[in-house]
Amino acid sequence: MKTLCVALGGRSYEIHIEAGLLDRLGEYVAPLGPRKCLLLSDSHVAPLYAQRATAALQAAGVTCAALVLPAGETTKRIGYLEKVYDGLIQAGITRSDALVALGGGVIGDLGGFAAATYLRGIKLVQVPTTLLAQVDSAVGGKTAVDLPAGKNLVGSFYQPHLVLIDPDTLATLPPRELSGGMGEVIKYAATFDRDLWPLLEGTEHLEQVVLRCLDLKRQVVQRDELDTGERMLLNFGHTLGHAIEKAQNFEGYIHGEAVAAGMCLMTRITQARGITREGDAQRLEDMCRAWNLPVTANKALWPAMAPALNQDKKHLAGGLTVVALEELGRGKLMPCPPHMLEEVVSWLR
Ligand code: NAD
Ligand code: GLY
Repeated sequence: MKTLCVALGGRSYEIHIEAGLLDRLGEYVAPLGPRKCLLLSDSHVAPLYAQRATAALQAAGVTCAALVLPAGETTKRIGYLEKVYDGLIQAGITRSDALVALGGGVIGDLGGFAAATYLRGIKLVQVPTTLLAQVDSAVGGKTAVDLPAGKNLVGSFYQPHLVLIDPDTLATLPPRELSGGMGEVIKYAATFDRDLWPLLEGTEHLEQVVLRCLDLKRQVVQRDELDTGERMLLNFGHTLGHAIEKAQNFEGYIHGEAVAAGMCLMTRITQARGITREGDAQRLEDMCRAWNLPVTANKALWPAMAPALNQDKKHLAGGLTVVALEELGRGKLMPCPPHMLEEVVSWLR
């Protein structure tokens, strides 16, 4: 068992990582004090793990109702948020009870926002089952739903009360989703930690890699909970990645693939401008390719990407801040120079 603490004063919480933890959820959830919980999951994860999770919670005296939503990004919408509120009402969840989010980043973000807003906030337990959610989305308190106009446009910062990670759940993850999670892992290595790079060459170091990413995320969140400074480094690849996802109507690249393409495209731009050390764009692409991740996107997407990028800019009063690599392992924040993002066109294929 490994335990990390995210130290945020009154909003501090623990992250427990242990093989088989799914069967011991109740031991950790019960001390938080809920009498009841709603277990929120999706149509891929629930058949695999919901029964074990429910049994573990009930065994510890926490009455558990389950709500299963369709798998996929399109579930992270306001219509499904209402279904979660209905589920919470039907389960009789009160302010001292909990929502347990069992699944990937979609269930975590949607469930997190429901927990943040239902009755002005109930207890939230994240039980992430994808690599992406275990290394990134389950920790740090970003919760959101998408709007037709773009990703994560409605949301809040709401820290979980507990994060429980069972690495064994990764055994059933489809290879494409494992690769998508590696997109976010490569992001940590590229922006913060060059020493991670050699550990990314196979799956044999996966548990060590998950722990290192969690530790990095924990430290960054402690220093910049509300994403006004250093935490923005974790958005490396996301400006272009979100524009690609939006241009594909969220039905093309999965999130981690879009982030990989966004990181590689941004690094091609910044290397050409002399911001990134020569050769590092190629090294980043080689690592992404090794994990079957895309390094670019189709040129035909550009007309749909451009308005998405402009919209990103409009939401930020002080102008758009982008993340660039000085070199692998060292990211930096910089105000986006005029027209820089348009240079992506020459790197689309
Ligand atoms: P996801 O939740 O859609 O899960 C990916 C797929 O894997 C789904 O089909 C799911 O049903 C399936 N799955 C999950 N666990 C499984 C398991 N153990 N075995 C078999 N199948 C399993 O996607 P994701 O990649 O986990 O998360 C992407 C989302 O996370 C995006 O919406 C993104 O915006 C968000 N995100 C949020 C943050 C944050 O800080 N809150 C950070 C990064 C990404
Ligand atoms: N973009 C991931 C985070 O800030 O938590």
